[in-house]
Amino acid sequence: MAESLRISPHSNRATAYAELFPQLQSLIESEADAIANQANVSAALAQTFHFHWVGFYRVQGDELVLGPFQGPIACTRIAKGKGVCGTAWARRETILVPDVAQFPGHIACSALSRSEIVVPCFDRAGTVTGVLDVDSVRLHDFSETDRLWLEEIAALLV
Ligand code: SME
Repeated sequence: MAESLRISPHSNRATAYAELFPQLQSLIESEADAIANQANVSAALAQTFHFHWVGFYRVQGDELVLGPFQGPIACTRIAKGKGVCGTAWARRETILVPDVAQFPGHIACSALSRSEIVVPCFDRAGTVTGVLDVDSVRLHDFSETDRLWLEEIAALLV
């Protein structure tokens, strides 16, 4: 993949993930640096789906620290168990939030975010190394399709 992705402009979201995935796979296979790969995954997801915010928080000690992302400036540190990101880390599972107003403790980095999905990233030992956070300005914007594909994408980053 050079600077442009090969995604049909008429793809629905499931088709677009299916087209994007092998491109991400070859991109990531040829680069060992985690931050470089997180940066390109953020850019590819933003370019394909025009999400409001998409990016990574990395585990550093007992906090998540902002990593590569695309979108408006965001909170830099999130404690374990706090917000959607810190909860996904603590529970070691994906959290899909159809309406952020209904999620107790949601951290509103951007007042425009209405729904989000947060996927934990694991190393080979099964330790959470960070989370992939995707935010939308639309309510109920994420489905099991996003969960499935974003988990597959996070698994590429091991
Ligand atoms: N929504 C997140 C905070 C991070 S930003 O939205 C970029 C949360 O509640 O964990």
